[in-house]
Amino acid sequence: MTATPSLRRTLLLWLLWPLLLIAPAAAALQYALILKPSLQIFDRVLGDNVLAIANFLHAGPAGLQFEMSAQTERSLRTAQTDALFYAVIGPGGELLAGDPPVAEPATAMAVDEWRFYDAEVFDQAVRVAAHGVRCGEAVCQVRVAETRTARDALRNEMIAAIAASLLLFAVATAVTVLVATARGLRPLQRLSRQLGARSLGDLRPLVAADVPGEAVPVVDAMNRLLERVQAGSAAQQAFLADAAHQLRTPLATLKTEAELALLQPHPPELQATLQRLDQAAARAARLSSQLLTLARSDASARAALPLAAVDLKAVATEAVQEWVPRAVDAGIDLGFELQPAVLTGQAFLLREMLANLLHNALTYAGRGAQVTIRTGVAEGAPFLEVEDDGPGIAAADRGRLLQRFQRGDQASGSGSGLGLAIVSDIVQAHGAHIELGEASAGRGLRVWVRFATSPDAGPP
Ligand SMILES: Nc1ncnc2c1ncn2[C@@H]1O[C@H](COP(=O)(O)OP(=O)(O)OP(=O)(O)O)[C@@H](O)[C@H]1O
Ligand SMILES: [Mg+2]
Repeated sequence: MTATPSLRRTLLLWLLWPLLLIAPAAAALQYALILKPSLQIFDRVLGDNVLAIANFLHAGPAGLQFEMSAQTERSLRTAQTDALFYAVIGPGGELLAGDPPVAEPATAMAVDEWRFYDAEVFDQAVRVAAHGVRCGEAVCQVRVAETRTARDALRNEMIAAIAASLLLFAVATAVTVLVATARGLRPLQRLSRQLGARSLGDLRPLVAADVPGEAVPVVDAMNRLLERVQAGSAAQQAFLADAAHQLRTPLATLKTEAELALLQPHPPELQATLQRLDQAAARAARLSSQLLTLARSDASARAALPLAAVDLKAVATEAVQEWVPRAVDAGIDLGFELQPAVLTGQAFLLREMLANLLHNALTYAGRGAQVTIRTGVAEGAPFLEVEDDGPGIAAADRGRLLQRFQRGDQASGSGSGLGLAIVSDIVQAHGAHIELGEASAGRGLRVWVRFATSPDAGPP
């Protein structure tokens, strides 16, 4: 989705490069501190063998003598897992005893000098310890050669151990980085989920409580932006409310004047014009009042309206006076089934919500229809319901008609398509839930608004 590299990848990459440098350095250190001293122990044991053999070399009056019993030689050769060879070399380079290949190559040595080197004897790789010993006035040499089986086995084991420990270290570090970034990023993911779940009008500042310190400036910047958006939106709503409010008086005057003109004696050819004028004035007045309601139901404007305990039963009872005569005019039987339903909300908006629902029911249900308003508490939640047995709204259209300026295909008369949008806004403003469904009669529309369960709501 994004072209920017992920934080996790960047961290891993930055970790990998130093690891590539650190790993060989650590390996060299382990070689110098552990492997090399261990291999030197083998050389020391080999040196001990040289000294043991040198003990059998004597310089007597009868010349140089080397006297090692066959049994001693056997036990010397078979004491180790590795094969052992030796050579006792006289001052002139001549072989006094032992295996001829060990005496090769002939090199001069000083008394008490030690030399250790790798060579090949009887086609086998060996480690040789050579030592110069005094024999009479001259210098003899004792050399012991040992095959490298035990030595190589130890070296291989140690290299494997070093490699395994470095690998373990690298993997553990990588896993730690992955887990740590995942954990470190979790608060940010929570924040983005929280933002994603927000409704459009929710411009409250983000809470930076559990985001990592590095992200706090981002949250702060976002909050400042939200503040500015909120201020802009509030200004816009205030303008809309003001404009709608300013329009009300001249429109009311216009309507009154049109009504008055209709009552005065007037030329019959003006009758139709005056009636159209009267209707247009009524429509404009209603539209301006709807715009005012929309502006007031907006999140930024709502804060200014007082929140109070409102009984939906009282709201519906107030509507009787205005709506029963209008229902009678429209040939509609308006019924009330009211139970107390107390909630915390804004009375003005709730009255407007009911007015829009009743206006629709009276407009669209048709002559002879039955319209019922119900209030009460169901499962602890206050509700308001307006039901009619008119043509209803097809299920596929319900979602669309809740939006602004959307009207039904068959809708006639002077509507703007704002009524249900206003209802929907007010429902949202109260954190309530709206459902458009079939009426219980099997035909008609049932609008059901269920408010949040309130602890102080009366019993069902
Ligand atoms: N009780 C109802 N029965 C049948 N159809 C309805 C009912 N209420 C609303 N509608 C349909 O839903 C559409 C949208 O209603 P809404 O109240 O939003 O706008 P409107 O009534 O057309 O215009 P306004 O309310 O702004 O004057 C209406 O045009 C109508 O087709
Ligand atoms: Mg309407």
